[in-house]
Amino acid sequence: MESIDNRVEEQRQLIEKLQKRNVKLQRFYDEYKRVCRNEEERIKELNCLYQVAQCVVIENDTDAALDKIVRIVPHGWQYTKDSCARITFKDNQYLSSGFFESEAVQSENIFIETVIAGTIEVFYKPGLASEADNPFLIEERNLLKGIAHIISFYLEKQRDNENRKLIKQQLLHADRLATIGQLAAGVAHELNEPLGNILGLAQLALKLPEMPNQAQKDLGKIEDCVIYSREIIKKLMEFSRQSPLSKEKINLNEVIDNSITFLEARCIKEGIEIVRRYAENITVSADPNQIKQVITNLTVNAIQAMRNGGKLIISTRKNSKNAVLAVEDTGIGISGENISKTFIPFFTTKDVGEGTGLGLSVVYGIIRNHSGDIKVSSEPGKGTIFEVCLPLEGT
Ligand SMILES: Nc1ncnc2c1ncn2[C@@H]1O[C@H](COP(=O)(O)OP(=O)(O)OP(=O)(O)O)[C@@H](O)[C@H]1O
Ligand SMILES: [Mg+2]
Repeated sequence: MESIDNRVEEQRQLIEKLQKRNVKLQRFYDEYKRVCRNEEERIKELNCLYQVAQCVVIENDTDAALDKIVRIVPHGWQYTKDSCARITFKDNQYLSSGFFESEAVQSENIFIETVIAGTIEVFYKPGLASEADNPFLIEERNLLKGIAHIISFYLEKQRDNENRKLIKQQLLHADRLATIGQLAAGVAHELNEPLGNILGLAQLALKLPEMPNQAQKDLGKIEDCVIYSREIIKKLMEFSRQSPLSKEKINLNEVIDNSITFLEARCIKEGIEIVRRYAENITVSADPNQIKQVITNLTVNAIQAMRNGGKLIISTRKNSKNAVLAVEDTGIGISGENISKTFIPFFTTKDVGEGTGLGLSVVYGIIRNHSGDIKVSSEPGKGTIFEVCLPLEGT
């Protein structure tokens, strides 16, 4: 009897042991499943990050890159099928497929340098993991930060590339103009002397006694033509920076006012309103006559571009090193095809006799001679703006 009882007790203890081991095993198995799930999540996240990084390395076009990234993003989140993403950059939105908006959202800013340039958001379907305040895992929050960093880095790189391209284009343009300048200077120099001789001889001949009337008229015409040709040569010399500078400290606003007074009557007649927006105390070291020439050429062009009236806005401002003078009009504008040609000597869209195409070449030569810079931007049908930078006095 005792031995039966003992055996029952043994059996009971064995069952108890087995049950305990079973519970342990179950726990171990649950833990193992949880670790596996976590591993899976981490692999998904790493994979998502890797694909985003790969995308910014391969894709040169910003739109295409952001479009791809936004489609990759939901694959890194635990409820992939119930999530979607949106990237906002400038005025554009990039959406993952089946996009929806909900209150369960996580968002990160995208910076360029220190300025916010856009956002990236991930949405979960409403009601998903609703018991939690924030349905997103810490890892997912970090992942979104990481993706936002990669996008920031990419956008900065794209911006640098664009700047580099622009500088290269400007250098090429300046190089081209310098070559044309050298050619123009050579031609101008060669022609100046024979033209001087022609003028001198014509003027001498005009003084001869008993000159027939017709011959006198013809010699007068020769004189006029030579004077006109020498004007052109003077302009070419200015473009190729051959004119000597006579620099002094000048108040830019005063020089502008002096230059445009004689154009005011013409503006009133042609229905053009002149708007002045001056910053105070702008002093530059420059040749006042040449700066006057710059302002006159730019304002005359602006007036000529506004056949049906408009607004001529002349403004000055300072930045860290430069005085900036802007001449803006609301005229016909310049086509994309012509804008890069405007500073080239003899480029004109005006009728014969109305323009020689040297006004802006002269402006360009003068500004470069003053170690300054000039930029043009225009929208056909809307208007044009020329911006001249001159080093501020004392910089
Ligand atoms: N404000 C402007 N609006 C529209 N087009 C402009 C403007 N300024 C310049 N342009 C364009 O650039 C061309 C070149 O200008 P530029 O001043 O060198 O020569 P021009 O005005 O034609 O002749 P010139 O100045 O010798 O009388 C112009 O013919 C015109 O097509
Ligand atoms: Mg002109």
